[in-house]
Amino acid sequence: MEKKIEEIKAEHLIEIRDMYKIYNPGENEVRALDGISLTIDEGEYVTIIGHSGSGKSTLMNMLGCLDVQTEGDYFLHGKNVAVMDDDMLSDIRNAEIGFIFQGFNLIQSLTAFENVELPLIYRGVGKKERQRLSIAALAKVGLENRMDHTPSQMSGGQQQRVAIARAIAQAPPLILADEPTGNLDSKSTAEIMAILRELHSEGRTVVIITHDDEIAAMADRTIEIKDGKIINDSKLADGTETEDIEDKEVERNIEKEEKEETTEDEGNNN
Ligand SMILES: Nc1ncnc2c1ncn2[C@@H]1O[C@H](COP(=O)(O)OP(=O)(O)OP(=O)(O)O)[C@@H](O)[C@H]1O
Ligand SMILES: [Mg+2]
Repeated sequence: MEKKIEEIKAEHLIEIRDMYKIYNPGENEVRALDGISLTIDEGEYVTIIGHSGSGKSTLMNMLGCLDVQTEGDYFLHGKNVAVMDDDMLSDIRNAEIGFIFQGFNLIQSLTAFENVELPLIYRGVGKKERQRLSIAALAKVGLENRMDHTPSQMSGGQQQRVAIARAIAQAPPLILADEPTGNLDSKSTAEIMAILRELHSEGRTVVIITHDDEIAAMADRTIEIKDGKIINDSKLADGTETEDIEDKEVERNIEKEEKEETTEDEGNNN
């Protein structure tokens, strides 16, 4: 029987309502996502920042339909992803989403071309079309002369470009990147960011997790996560958020210094 999927009027590409992801519910529970609500519109370029363990990858996996939340709703194009079964989720992933991971996730025994082609095989794309799409994607990331190289014969930056080619081969409207430049030097980082920018200028929605302040500063919008909660969203703060974060950082440092001074004073009094 066809499952009835709840639909709302799709005002946003992504609409997340009160989402929780709780590991080990009970005493030692981890609230990886602790009540996240958020919308992302088509064509946005968003970075997600936050300390290690704050919940960034968990959120990204939700956005990418790779994980299932404990509570809450996720509407993608107005359709509630939260209630879909595995087959439906995998259809959505195939049609809508391109993933780029920090560790590239390439198959070592396959060439660049074969790595890019593989998901297209899973999607049932015919051989000629696969060839066309794979070559075009590799050309787009400047690797037309590395198609027959395996990952071990390529630099980190080149491997990441293969991973991007794989993610964009079928032109998905939504690109999710979890620390795409985390393992790269500054030159490769600049190249990868330029490619992501270009994909965005072609009209795709791009969401990037990053630890790199410079990358975050280049985005139109930055969302900061802490302990599974959104503590800053420059879109809501009308573009003033980068300063807010810096101010907060300064405030935190002042608080910390004051605390240290008080402790020292107390120490002196004894
Ligand atoms: N499978 C799991 N079981 C239990 N806890 C988990 C699991 N996966 C993640 N967590 C916890 O959820 C929290 C959020 O993890 P997440 O991977 O989203 O962090 P992150 O912000 O991506 O960190 P990093 O910057 O280090 O990649 C962490 O405290 C983590 O320990
Ligand atoms: Mg992570």
